[in-house]
Amino acid sequence: MGKVTVITSGKGGTGKSTVTAGLGAALVRRGGRVLLIDCDAGMRGIDLMLGVSGELVFDIADIINGNCSPASAIYPCKTLPELYILPAPQNVRDELSPSVMRQLTRVLKGYYDHILIDCPAGIGSGFETAVAPADRAVLVANAEPLSVRSCNKVRAKLQYCSVNDISLIINRFNERKFRRMDVYEDLDAVIDEAGARLLGVVPDDGTAASASQKGLPVEGRMKASFAFDRIAARLDGKDVPLLIE
Ligand SMILES: Nc1ncnc2c1ncn2[C@@H]1O[C@H](COP(=O)(O)OP(=O)(O)O)[C@@H](O)[C@H]1O
Ligand SMILES: [Mg+2]
Repeated sequence: MGKVTVITSGKGGTGKSTVTAGLGAALVRRGGRVLLIDCDAGMRGIDLMLGVSGELVFDIADIINGNCSPASAIYPCKTLPELYILPAPQNVRDELSPSVMRQLTRVLKGYYDHILIDCPAGIGSGFETAVAPADRAVLVANAEPLSVRSCNKVRAKLQYCSVNDISLIINRFNERKFRRMDVYEDLDAVIDEAGARLLGVVPDDGTAASASQKGLPVEGRMKASFAFDRIAARLDGKDVPLLIE
């Protein structure tokens, strides 16, 4: 039975989709079979990051509306076998309900080791649908006040939705910029304010971001790839030291 992890953030643009795709690839490199569910109705992006956007015919709304079987709306990533994506609807009006999302995920869990759900920004109805089937949540924040402060709101909402296993990824970290900003004493202060245990720190990595935007995998010697590998090991329950590069 696959473990379901929702990737969330309060503030938009912190890197949820990039982290979802990067972590998915890293979990596959560990030998897993992984499904990414894009829940960002109207703003989907994971298909682009996996290089399959030109092939999409069906999406998650088509499964629910009975237009296709679940298997027909799940697309394999071209560059990485065992990584799959279920795209979000193109229109916001096709947003699903939490109970439907729970039912669908219950079925899909049988076929994958991990399901990662890419959540829309904010804590509206799309959020409730995306977190409904989750066993655990990962908050993606940047080390800056607006982003960190929003983690508290999301954490409270996650707990309201009965998701209590919550951890934090600090994404796009750049030590020099962090020091220059001079808001936080150190990363511990960021973690304290976000109020969740640290799962990992992903460096600001233009090479990885550009690969991801072109539908290429974040892998090999890219700095972000090393971080994703360690975070994936931790998600798999391994005791890997926290390194900040
Ligand atoms: N670790 C990173 N290093 C550099 N750029 C990143 C990183 N993570 C995300 N980005 C960039 O930040 C922007 C927002 O990322 P995205 O994953 O779309 O965020 P969200 O899904 O939270 O809206 C994109 O341009 C993406 O390429
Ligand atoms: Mg996104």
